[in-house]
Amino acid sequence: MNKAIILAGGQGKRMKADMPKPLFKVLGEPMLEWVITACEAAGLSDICVVKGFMGEMIDEYLDGRYRTVLQAERLGTGHAVMQAVPFLKEDESGNTLVLCGDAPFIDAKTIEESLVIHKQQNNAVTVITAELDNPYGYGRIIRTQSGISGIVEQKDASDEQRAIREVNSGAYWFRTADLVELLGKLDCNNSQNEYYLTDTISIALSEGRNAGAYKSENADIIRGANDRKDLLELNTYARNAVIEKHLVNGVGFVCTDGVIIERGVEIGAGTEILPGTILRGKTKIGTGCAIGPNTVIENCIIGDDVTLNTAQAYDSEVESGVKIGPFVHIRPGSCIKSGAKIGDFVEIKNSTIGEKTAIAHLAYIGDSDVGKKVNIGCGTVTVNYDGIEKSRCVIGDNCFIGCNTNLIAPIKLGKAVYTAAGTTVTRDVPDFALAIDRGVLKVNEGYTLRKLKSKISDK
Ligand code: UD1
Ligand code: CA
Repeated sequence: MNKAIILAGGQGKRMKADMPKPLFKVLGEPMLEWVITACEAAGLSDICVVKGFMGEMIDEYLDGRYRTVLQAERLGTGHAVMQAVPFLKEDESGNTLVLCGDAPFIDAKTIEESLVIHKQQNNAVTVITAELDNPYGYGRIIRTQSGISGIVEQKDASDEQRAIREVNSGAYWFRTADLVELLGKLDCNNSQNEYYLTDTISIALSEGRNAGAYKSENADIIRGANDRKDLLELNTYARNAVIEKHLVNGVGFVCTDGVIIERGVEIGAGTEILPGTILRGKTKIGTGCAIGPNTVIENCIIGDDVTLNTAQAYDSEVESGVKIGPFVHIRPGSCIKSGAKIGDFVEIKNSTIGEKTAIAHLAYIGDSDVGKKVNIGCGTVTVNYDGIEKSRCVIGDNCFIGCNTNLIAPIKLGKAVYTAAGTTVTRDVPDFALAIDRGVLKVNEGYTLRKLKSKISDK
């Protein structure tokens, strides 16, 4: 069976952070995750990640999804792969893909097409290459008339070799059994005293095995990040690529300033995305919506013709025709049913809001089930937390909740219940009732004048 090894031992000193480099994020996902996704999309599920610097963070991130091996000392790319020899020996029958965990744009197409070449040419090793305008820093591909003859690192290359623009991407296919043998023959006789994985090519050729190169037309597959500036460039590249995809699909943008859309987001045609909109995770948005400006949506399902203006919504569902904003916070576990309206300074948490219900301004609805066509007055609070436990509020269809109502949970209001403004409701209210809790209003006539007079006479 075919498998993959991902090298993720890099420290990324120039990032100036205590974190393995492959965990730095591009468009919301660690670079390592991009590489894993490419492997999975190419049908590779037997993956071993070689960790090094702060390797425990890699384990924590992977959370048991894939196995890892530790490279305790950083002695080069060949040495890193040597740590995975037990993994390779479990099944030497197929081929093994070696990838860098900090080059996020490798894709399934490149992986699959290079494997075809690798097999056709019956190679022990096939290196994936690309042509760069500025090849500085990369291993150069040395070719002779009979094909590739080796890879020379920047630090070991002659001036003539440094002029070569075809470079090693750091990704390779190996016949697994050959890889195990070739690793045993590496030495560290080079300017960096490292075990170079690249030397497997010249060693294979010297032993009469086949070695080849697959040149990718897309040089972006080799892009990586050494510092924060590079990382920003990768983010910019990925961000533009995602926006372009949505443009082709019929999504509208008048200005993409501050727009960040992660690659897992789906958006229907005719939806307009306004500046400052950040769409994350597994968000799915229907057609004809207006999203933004200044809106964050994470892992939400949004229907058609929804307005979300200056709002934040997390792990929730918003049905078609809903209008939300400005200044609304929809917290996890909420479902806003079709035609509902949620206005400014409203927070909804872990609640269902029924069809055509209106919560126009200044309210907190938490752990509640609100029915259809309910009107929630300004200043309404569902008092869902008593300091120890959270409890639910149930508000029936067609209720009219007066301004500044407190609903002390657990509580249930039946159908078409009225609450008078300022009422604190402490027990269940049956269908069609009015809940009113109010002291007797006193009106003290002439009070202000008497007060002013006494102040003036004091002086
Ligand atoms: C390597 C290649 C070079 C290629 C370049 C592509 C070698 C000798 N050179 O360069 O031909 O053009 O990648 O980016 O292989 N790593 C470890 N342990 C180590 C050393 C590296 O895990 O001891 C990992 C790094 O974290 C990284 C990958 O291997 O993910 C490549 O290492 P890096 O040092 O970035 O590349 P170079 O050695 O400069
Ligand atoms: Ca190096």
